[in-house]
Amino acid sequence: MELPFDGAISDYYENHAPQPIRDAIRRADKDDILNPAYPHSERMKKKSYERDMERVQVELVKLQHWAKAAGARIACVFEGRDAAGKGGTIKRFRENLNPRGARVVALSKPTETEATQWYFQRYVDHLPAGGEIVFYDRSWYNRGVVEKVFGFCTDEQREHFFRQVPEFEKMLVDEGIHVFKFWLNVGRAEQLQRFIKRERDPLKQWKLSWIDVEGLKKWDAYSQAIRETLDRSHTGHAPWTVIRSDDKKRARLAAIRTVLHALDYDRKDTGAIGAIDPAVCGGPDIWDG
Ligand code: ADP
Ligand code: AMP
Ligand code: MLT
Repeated sequence: MELPFDGAISDYYENHAPQPIRDAIRRADKDDILNPAYPHSERMKKKSYERDMERVQVELVKLQHWAKAAGARIACVFEGRDAAGKGGTIKRFRENLNPRGARVVALSKPTETEATQWYFQRYVDHLPAGGEIVFYDRSWYNRGVVEKVFGFCTDEQREHFFRQVPEFEKMLVDEGIHVFKFWLNVGRAEQLQRFIKRERDPLKQWKLSWIDVEGLKKWDAYSQAIRETLDRSHTGHAPWTVIRSDDKKRARLAAIRTVLHALDYDRKDTGAIGAIDPAVCGGPDIWDG
């Protein structure tokens, strides 16, 4: 089988990655967290994770039941660098939900026609109807980050986006849509280690693209674009929830708990939802590149 990214990631790791990043990966044990700034030194134990995950997933079932009965509309936006864990988090949200009513929206790059439309237009097409929870795996925030880093939009287009985005989201919220914006934050060594694993695993290779490979060299440009995006789109009506995602297990639980705590669904059991770890999940102030 021809593997499209055979070698590009490991070549970067062996020959181009900054030395501290290489050292962190080489030295790491299985349960170690590679980011020295992460507030826990070990990954969450599987047993506690599975127990907590089951409890929050039961709550999600109640939430969906309520959403269907009440006609509630919920939109969850997932952003973050490549390999931050967006897809995996969405998968845990949906694991025990009725897929009819819990949709994923993962759009490709805009077509020629879409590129001529209002930038938000193709995302609006997928907003939730009554009873639906929609998970955006990447979103209109592409314009703030990847499009800036790769030059897919002009600076004027990006400024226009930053002017419109608070208004756009205000309309969604005024309309009664429950909007959640998650920024999953992954450290540089952890990201590279995840890429290496993806490259080696034929079942995960689909997750890699040339953007990921080229993006490795653009860490600092990404950091700058992300910082600016968080600063300019963190509003009272549509705030960012930033989640430190070096440990996927804690990150998934934090995201699910954030949604559950925020909504008043029937038979809500706050104890079963559990506490959000403030060291792992907070506002843009906990984003540290
Ligand atoms: P993903 O991480 O979602 O699997 P990629 O890393 O390949 O996908 O791409 C990141 C994002 O950049 C995607 O949302 C993709 O649609 C977008 N993108 C890729 N090429 C372009 C382009 N030419 N113009 C605008 N957006 C693009
Ligand atoms: P893809 O099929 O999207 O993986 O892209 C194939 C090739 O086209 C890659 O080598 C990319 O570098 C190039 N490419 C695709 N889209 C763009 C773009 N928007 N700007 C510059 N190069 C691109
Ligand atoms: C993620 O894992 O963060 C995304 O869903 C997939 C990717 O980054 O390629």
